[in-house]
Amino acid sequence: MTILVTGVAGFIGSNFVYYYLRKHVERKIIGLDNLTYAGNLDNFSGLTEEEKKRFTFIKGDICDTELVDRIFSENEIDGVINFAAESHVDRSIHDPQIFLKTNILGTQVLLDTAKNHWRLSDGKWRSLDQREEGEAIQDRFSRTTSNEQLTTPKFLQISTDEVYGALGPTGLFTEKTPLDPHSPYSASKASADLIVKAYHDTYGMPMNITRCSNNYGPYQFPEKLIPLMINNAFRHKPLPVYGDGRQIRDWLYVEDHCRAIDIVFDNGQSGEVYNIGGHNERENIYIVKRMIEILREKTGDGEINESLIKHVTDRLGHDRRYAIDPSKITRELGWEPSIMFDEGIELTIDWYLNNREWMQSVISGEYMEFYEKNYKI
Ligand code: NAD
Ligand code: TYD
Repeated sequence: MTILVTGVAGFIGSNFVYYYLRKHVERKIIGLDNLTYAGNLDNFSGLTEEEKKRFTFIKGDICDTELVDRIFSENEIDGVINFAAESHVDRSIHDPQIFLKTNILGTQVLLDTAKNHWRLSDGKWRSLDQREEGEAIQDRFSRTTSNEQLTTPKFLQISTDEVYGALGPTGLFTEKTPLDPHSPYSASKASADLIVKAYHDTYGMPMNITRCSNNYGPYQFPEKLIPLMINNAFRHKPLPVYGDGRQIRDWLYVEDHCRAIDIVFDNGQSGEVYNIGGHNERENIYIVKRMIEILREKTGDGEINESLIKHVTDRLGHDRRYAIDPSKITRELGWEPSIMFDEGIELTIDWYLNNREWMQSVISGEYMEFYEKNYKI
């Protein structure tokens, strides 16, 4: 089985490649990514020689219809997992247009190409067994051993809890919560979700949508809260907390997200949305203070302390609280988070301590430009 994974060189995409190639030793990934500031090919340096043989990287844009069509024509693509996106809320406030282009139009290009290659002339969808005999036998074997339900190729859209908008002090987002996005980023993701749904409702496209809470872990670009604070603390730079810092996010360790995606891709019922969350609601200020403690302890550097915290002007339209009810994916597919925040944050900080050269290499001139514009500190 070969799947097309887009946005493969970003944070979650690259973690997914490691997870997936290790979990499914008979499967292959074709990775597509146009390597924006957020994509980094060095993220794959830890793959084994055997895993590299099952991973092909293609540099290109998901909006490039010709390229995407060529990928489908030259390979038997059995599924698409679409991670590719502009993903940072603050950047979407400064410059919304690229968010609409990549996140909405790019998704539509992928959907349309997949439809053209997977839908048969009688309106039915290609079955996974309709291919070369040898390959079919191998895939039948893998389905038995990993208990898959997949019978047709599938499109899996990686979405976000931010499409639901913001919560007050109580309540949780369920899959039935109406879409009410506030930022240009979340509005573009909600639009993409609706286009994916339209392909299902109109053409019968086999698909799922997953909506996950905030991820953290290795390879996350230092524009997002956790790696940004780690990077700044290493350098004794101010730790910019927006507003009062009492906004709440529900944090999930990235490997738990990758495991959920794998389960939904194989076993999710076509047409369904699955929320994914960590039962880890924390205020931003708690996260920052806890990271300071751990970093000081691990580095022995006394200059990493709370005097670095700087409350800065709040983000425009800042959503106050996100919290996910993941009971549907737990009940129907047996997934639940396995790494709680206290363990996950230690794993994450250890990774950044051991990979300081990675952090150095991704902080390019472009990053500094964005930093100056966004923080003015
Ligand atoms: P990221 O910004 O780290 O990575 C995005 C990747 O997409 C980058 O490698 C980038 O080069 C690539 N990309 C951007 N535009 C492209 C284009 N036009 N064509 C091809 N590739 C392109 O993002 P991430 O944090 O890894 O998020 C991945 C997905 O998960 C996104 O769709 C995001 O909305 C979703 N998500 C993220 C989180 C989170 O906390 N990070 C939570 C829920 C959902
Ligand atoms: P972020 O990691 O950008 O994720 P998202 O906006 O998608 O939830 O931000 C997480 C929270 O941290 C959010 O409430 C904004 C806040 N934040 C800061 O206080 N300071 C920062 O420098 C950043 C990047 C985020």
